[in-house]
Amino acid sequence: MKKRVFSGIKPSGSLHLGNYLGAIRNWVADQDKCENIFCVVDQHAITVDYEPAALRQNVRELVGLYLACGLDPAPCALFVQSHVPEHTELAWLFNCVTPMGWLQRMTQFKEKSDDLREQVSAGLFTYPTLMAADILLYQTEEVPVGDDQKQHVELARDIAQRFNHLFGETFVLPEPVIRKVAARVMGLDDPSKKMSKSTTSDSHGIGLLDPPALIRKKLSRATTDSQREIVFDRERPGVFNLLTIFQALSGQSQEEIEAHFAGKGYAQLKGDLADLVVATLEPIQARYREITSAPEQIDQILAQGVTRLRPLVEATMTRVRCAMGLR
Ligand code: AMP
Ligand code: TRP
Repeated sequence: MKKRVFSGIKPSGSLHLGNYLGAIRNWVADQDKCENIFCVVDQHAITVDYEPAALRQNVRELVGLYLACGLDPAPCALFVQSHVPEHTELAWLFNCVTPMGWLQRMTQFKEKSDDLREQVSAGLFTYPTLMAADILLYQTEEVPVGDDQKQHVELARDIAQRFNHLFGETFVLPEPVIRKVAARVMGLDDPSKKMSKSTTSDSHGIGLLDPPALIRKKLSRATTDSQREIVFDRERPGVFNLLTIFQALSGQSQEEIEAHFAGKGYAQLKGDLADLVVATLEPIQARYREITSAPEQIDQILAQGVTRLRPLVEATMTRVRCAMGLR
């Protein structure tokens, strides 16, 4: 039996190398071994300020990138979260079985609400119950994500366990699946912060659709340190981050990479890394242009995704509504 896998990305800005290495690339690598469901989580993107027109555009771009990166609509159901209204129905039911204390412990909420304080939306606070609904609705076994989402997937597991305890065996308990290499790609300008979509600095992240010259420029400016040796050392976060990206993209071992750069300088490291990033992204960008030139095909793939998932959605929701006394 193939394992059922679910994951998603927020359409909240341009995808970067962290999203690729921490998430999409791993989904693509395992898609033939699993039963896959990949979602564009548009309702998570509206928990913070946003522009409706930009959201619509970002959803299209993200689906185009899923396909351009190699997700195949034969082994994968691809869809947009808001096209399956049961996600929010189940999220409400989970809001009623999730203790406030569990949500107050979420580090992502603490970080994101720090600057906004009282202005923060209630949706940002209950974000993890919607994410739990995404995962549990499909009786998911594995959730491949970057390191930053581990706590949220563990909360989904806790909610499943609590629900099963209160209302009887209903949900499969999901597990996070996090790769060893590049599960947390850091910002090029500041290697103490994870690479993220929301930043004002123009040398922070590498966008999957960045042109080659821009990629080279950003990497040439990446923060390093005043030492010389090019070795994997976590105490030197700038160089460690560049080497980790190199490792993830080249598939070479740390020893091979250190031998390759022995006696060389940072300019060589940045130049070789730029070659590797450009060689990885160029074919993705070419496929992206091809795919997005036929938007009706994308709409068709998304509609098929919803149709394929319907029986699963209805089976879970019927059990849940009955178990909770709503039917
Ligand atoms: P998001 O951009 O927050 O919607 O994240 C989508 C996916 O990319 C999730 O699985 C994240 O864990 C992963 N991800 C986001 N940023 C990074 C990063 N800097 N390094 C590795 N994975 C990341
Ligand atoms: N919260 C995730 C992120 O920011 C996105 C997400 C929403 C997700 N629902 C999910 C990831 C379900 C995996 C499974 O990256």
